[in-house]
Amino acid sequence: MTTANQSLKPITTKINEKGHIEIGGCDLVELADKYATPLYVFDEATIRTIARQYKSAFASYDKVSMLYASKAFMTKAIVRILDEEGFGFDMVSGGEIYTAHKAGADMKKCLFNGNNKSYDELQMAVELGVGLISVDNFLELALLNDVAKSNNKVVDILLRVTPGIECHTHEYIQTGHLDSKFGFDLTQVDSAVELIVDEYKNLNLVGLHAHIGSQIFETSIYYDEVEVLLKEMGRLKEKYGLNLTHINLGGGLGIKYTEDDMPPSINEIAEKIISSIKANAPKYNLDEPEIHIEPGRSIIGTSGVTLYTVGSSKQVPKGRKYVAVDGGMADNPRPSLYQAVYTADVANRPSDAKTETVTIAGRFCESGDILIKDAEMPPLEEGDILCFYDTGAYGYSMSSNYNRVLKPAAVLVNNSQSDIIIDRESYEHLVSLDRIPERLKD
Ligand code: LLP
Repeated sequence: MTTANQSLKPITTKINEKGHIEIGGCDLVELADKYATPLYVFDEATIRTIARQYKSAFASYDKVSMLYASKAFMTKAIVRILDEEGFGFDMVSGGEIYTAHKAGADMKKCLFNGNNKSYDELQMAVELGVGLISVDNFLELALLNDVAKSNNKVVDILLRVTPGIECHTHEYIQTGHLDSKFGFDLTQVDSAVELIVDEYKNLNLVGLHAHIGSQIFETSIYYDEVEVLLKEMGRLKEKYGLNLTHINLGGGLGIKYTEDDMPPSINEIAEKIISSIKANAPKYNLDEPEIHIEPGRSIIGTSGVTLYTVGSSKQVPKGRKYVAVDGGMADNPRPSLYQAVYTADVANRPSDAKTETVTIAGRFCESGDILIKDAEMPPLEEGDILCFYDTGAYGYSMSSNYNRVLKPAAVLVNNSQSDIIIDRESYEHLVSLDRIPERLKD
């Protein structure tokens, strides 16, 4: 069975009777007209489908919690949808905690993670009752114990460890290899455990956490990750008599950005994880643990597309043809940051033959602001609406106001209805935090 992360397009995508692309029953050309471009469009059916596919892939294992990695894209509406689907939230900042709380997430199901959490953020997490905190380093152990003590609480924690597993993804999004800024090296775990047991009485260690990397296509990595964590838990049980009950396996499952990408299904990942638990829990003398899965990209990536309007173009004599759109690296930094490759169609005439090779350039003042190099496209004209697929994850969430360009709006589509979930910024928003010191006023 295929799962939605293996689809290049949102699952409701079709060509309608006008010959336009339609998602969630909404004509993309009409959305561009109504809300202007650039515009992020999110398909609710794709999000809910994939969330349910995660749950059913793990249905045979009764001790599993799903946490959505908020960093991929978080707004209050997304929190509502995933909370309804029974997900908790993996959060890495005060801002993400605040958003989850404001949108009514069940904070007990949430986890606070990150390699340099501030005292204030820890305080906020403890006050709002965040269920678990994944402690990343020695400083944080001390800070969190202080915070917990001053709140008269004992806080459940995981230790984030670097399992020493390398995956074949872009170097900037690998995290589980040994030379990483995240988590305790396995050789440091004993010192951390001794501090928790002997000194930090307001911390209750319940398990281990790891995240190997992102946009992962290799399934065997998850088998290995479970084994490394269980082996470590078995060792801690033997050495300290500690009965750890949880393993958090992070996120990482890849999605299909181009026709050539063949990510595994969620079921294949679940099968590796569950079979590794069945084989390794007894081997290391452990009960089967509670597992946490933290997907971000694979939950939201496929559901999102970005619409742009085509503007100017330039044919370099004897060189490339550049076609510029009204967005670019500020709404989607992934091509310039990770050389990420995207697929696009012309929303107003998707069936036209792709007879030209053009480079789709952004509007920002950098030569590197190229969205797709050498894309096969029909001859493009000013006013065409381009639909870039798979921009749901790490697009808006990593967007900026570079060049003081306004951040686009985001709409949620479902059953032929479209609703704004993030307003387009206005010039007023843009200057609203600027202050002119008195001495500079005439
Ligand atoms: N859990 C932890 C601890 C993480 O660090 C991450 C992602 C996730 C879960 C979710 O991973 P996912 O399922 O989304 O792969 N900006 C980069 C991706 C950075 C991912 C950082 N951590 C990109 O655009 O490719």
